[in-house]
Amino acid sequence: MFSGVLATCRPGFEKECAAELSERAAQFGFSGYPQTQPDSGFCVFHFHEPVNARCFEAFEWKSLIFARSVFCLLGRQIEVPEDDRVTPLVKFVKEAPGKLKPIALLVESPDSDAGRELSAFCRSFSKPLHAALVKLGINTRFWDDEFVSPDTDAQCLHVFFLNYQRVYLGVSIMRLGSPWPRGIVRLKFPADAPSRSTLKLEEAFLTFLNEDERAAALSPSRRAVDLGACPGGWTYQFVRRGIRTMAVDNGAMDERLMETGLVEHLKVDGFKFSPPRPVDWMVCDMVEQPKRVAELALNWWQAQSARRLIFNLKLPMKKRWNEVSEIRTVLDEHLKNSGRSYRLLMKHLYHDREEITVYIGPHG
Ligand SMILES: C[S@@+](CC[C@H](N)C(=O)[O-])C[C@H]1O[C@@H](n2cnc3c(N)ncnc32)[C@H](O)[C@@H]1O
Repeated sequence: MFSGVLATCRPGFEKECAAELSERAAQFGFSGYPQTQPDSGFCVFHFHEPVNARCFEAFEWKSLIFARSVFCLLGRQIEVPEDDRVTPLVKFVKEAPGKLKPIALLVESPDSDAGRELSAFCRSFSKPLHAALVKLGINTRFWDDEFVSPDTDAQCLHVFFLNYQRVYLGVSIMRLGSPWPRGIVRLKFPADAPSRSTLKLEEAFLTFLNEDERAAALSPSRRAVDLGACPGGWTYQFVRRGIRTMAVDNGAMDERLMETGLVEHLKVDGFKFSPPRPVDWMVCDMVEQPKRVAELALNWWQAQSARRLIFNLKLPMKKRWNEVSEIRTVLDEHLKNSGRSYRLLMKHLYHDREEITVYIGPHG
């Protein structure tokens, strides 16, 4: 039984995260209230009554936009004295209702200025806590970037330090959560990429497609259109996979990308361009009104000009949640009416700042 849910987010987006958790809780009939602090990097939604395992499904990471990672809470904050933090935590785990069988342990802190100061402590604290859990018969592994969770209902135990004295304990089902600890994906910036924004599209591929889908949808025989392509960070992601790409933008494309012979640079308006024949991908990073970009994407989908779409929506300064939620409703309605099966996913990626990334593709 869970007392609430904790979602981490990019610091500065707590209000959006809270609005989203509240909306989701209401959809599932879980009454409660959100609790946030500006720039804390996380948000808690407390339930008025304990919620069963439906909590996992309700707050599935992929279906949430602003949550970087999410887990269900085993209770309120726990006080841990500085001279022995392990004992109260182990006691809590031992007494937690329902049998906990985590296979992974993540000792973490928020991605805020204050939280990052705790990260070295969290790493070192993992060891004595792990040893104490093993004694209790709970044999977990540390969840790090090398650890790949099996595609089962395997659980992760989250120990979330707010400061040196206060902790939230919770559980996630790894299959339903972010594939990366704390939802933070560490990608190496390729030395020959023309812009840092290349990492956004790489993260989007990893977030929205599974391994099999990536192998099929990003094979060299595919064709792509990149709207607002210059200097070419997104185009680079296709070219490095051998995918021919039409780069649409009035600006200058990176010379090295052009030398590959895989890129056709078209200096035309991205809102007026349509490909001579349907392509596998349309991606769009034009800085424009989000509603206008969403409408453009729907036109591409409607005309079946591309099989899969990835586009960025720049967030407004104010009422960001309202705007995003309205656009999602519009997208969903139009896609439903198109009569084709589709998957719509929206995510504030780790590499996104004042924008979110949207994926539309076939179902399965
Ligand atoms: C954020 S940058 C794109 C960066 C690119 N994705 C990368 O990774 O290097 C936005 C680009 O959109 C282009 N753009 C804006 N409006 C456009 C339009 N109507 N048609 C084509 N390109 C447009 C701009 O010229 C600019 O190069």
